[in-house]
Amino acid sequence: MCGILGYIGSKNATPYLLEGLKGLEYRGYDSAGLYVAGQGVIKRSGKVAKLEESIPSDFAGNAGIAHTRWATHGAPTELNAHPHCDQSKTIWLVHNGIIENYLEIREQLLGFGIACATETDSEVLAQLVGHHYAEGVPLEVAVGTALQEVRGAYGIAVASVREPDKLVAARFGSPLMLGIGDDGYYIASDASPLLAHTRNVTYLNDGEMAVLEKDSYEIMNLSRDVLDKKVEVLDWDIESAQKKGYEHFMLKEIMEGPEVIENTLRGRLDIENSTAKLGGLADVEERLKAIKRIIITGCGSAYYAGLVGELLIEEIAGIPVEVEIASELRYRRWTAVPEDTVLIAVSQSGETADTLEAIREAKKQGILTLGVVNAVGSSIARATDAGVYNHAGPEIGVASTKAFISQMTVFVLIALRLRELQNSTAYSNSTQEIIQELTRLPAYIRSILQNKDVVSDIAKRHADMRDALYIGRKFQFPIAYEGALKLKEISYIHAEAYGAGEMKHGPIALIDENFPTIALMPKDSLYEKTRSNIEEIRARGGKIIAVTSGDTQELSKITADIIMIPQTIECLQPILTTIPLQLFAYCVAHERGLPIDMPRNLAKSVTVE
Ligand code: M6R
Repeated sequence: MCGILGYIGSKNATPYLLEGLKGLEYRGYDSAGLYVAGQGVIKRSGKVAKLEESIPSDFAGNAGIAHTRWATHGAPTELNAHPHCDQSKTIWLVHNGIIENYLEIREQLLGFGIACATETDSEVLAQLVGHHYAEGVPLEVAVGTALQEVRGAYGIAVASVREPDKLVAARFGSPLMLGIGDDGYYIASDASPLLAHTRNVTYLNDGEMAVLEKDSYEIMNLSRDVLDKKVEVLDWDIESAQKKGYEHFMLKEIMEGPEVIENTLRGRLDIENSTAKLGGLADVEERLKAIKRIIITGCGSAYYAGLVGELLIEEIAGIPVEVEIASELRYRRWTAVPEDTVLIAVSQSGETADTLEAIREAKKQGILTLGVVNAVGSSIARATDAGVYNHAGPEIGVASTKAFISQMTVFVLIALRLRELQNSTAYSNSTQEIIQELTRLPAYIRSILQNKDVVSDIAKRHADMRDALYIGRKFQFPIAYEGALKLKEISYIHAEAYGAGEMKHGPIALIDENFPTIALMPKDSLYEKTRSNIEEIRARGGKIIAVTSGDTQELSKITADIIMIPQTIECLQPILTTIPLQLFAYCVAHERGLPIDMPRNLAKSVTVE
């Protein structure tokens, strides 16, 4: 979604702003613009490259702000692109989020003789700051006053023609961080553009405002009480946010699978004592000993990882779990939630608006909230009481791949930890067996990736399909959903997922020779059942692509399209079946010549509702 950048210091701001805008492209956008002190503003609809072409070589200054816009209010035109200004063109402002009372404020502004020129909610904010920016009023006072009048979500960076040596940034509900460099101060809505300049960052919390000058900065609340904020060190390396020779980030991130699992597990398995250790949960372990019910929430792939988490926790720790999409959970009536309930919020970006709101609702109930988050220091990581970081490294491709397998791995660790804390004698494999197989996962994934060509051949043969069905049972049921999501989001092919046992209850009516079924059927306790389902599909002329660790000879009587995966214990098998589905979606989209890392209409980080 929208991306924000700012710089003030001893260097020319333009190169950081332009490079930063390119670095934020992955988040999804449809127009871009920048303002540089002493130079003015340039905005374009479409790609950052188009904006770059329009920037003269002498467009330089020591302070500036920039933005990529993902249209919410008003079409993706040049007029609606940010930065927006007030009527006198003194205030320049970039905004991420939604100002909910913008129509009301627009009316009030009209009463003061101020008419907005664009269709956006963001311009209203620029005009409101301008309205409060009377002669002699410092920029931060005008910004603080304006922000106290708005409802909704914002991350903003503001520049003023009258105070060219100052920038103000503020946040409520939309991510914003400051980079503290040797040569100046950086503003960014996510960490990736900062990596080339500084590792020292401080995260703004809701209701906080930063006032940046060339040689100093202060963080304060909207009433301008100065706050003492911690500076943290980013541990992501710059290479991990680059393509490293791969054609697409998505492919690079799939191929990183083995290292991602190693990084997620690092330091968390005590093989000798057969236990999992999760430092991020240490402070809440006493409470976890007594919990009786778990609610897992997230959106998109994070929600599907939560569905796998549900089965893992129930199987391994024997604690009842329910999973709900965050955009639904936040609006449900929370009837008498017992205090021995815990909410686990899953999010790669840590900035998903609906997930954040679901956490806020849970907090109102007074229950413990935990995060399974990849982006260190993100809003969800900070909003939850405790949590487990994925350590999957930056995920740039819009389609979540490495974060998803890491999320499932974290759920295995959480389930093991809960089993020990609750002294559970529940079900499933022994802890020792699970730990042993966890350590083998990277090698198993490597072997799947080595056979990428098999997946690619099958994908090429099916690349012109119009529809696809994904089926699986138990641990493979959420993976069917995840596989279908991967295919639809990057190849724009209609794909559906069903529990294999549901076929006879409706979906089998869809089957014909043009509607292939991807069957997830590792050799687990439900293998025979799923095999019967694919027999039924074949009997109706349906084509099957089987992802299996079963008997190839036997399956080859049903289909020629077989993708083999290694055999592991049932509860870890979903991590393995995911990999060929990611590769399959990638290869189909590649064959169709689509923009894999930035699919149409999608944003990497969904920071508005
Ligand atoms: O950053 P989050 O994990 O909270 O994002 C949740 C979803 O928006 C995300 O998983 C989305 O569904 C992906 N594009 C799936 O590939």
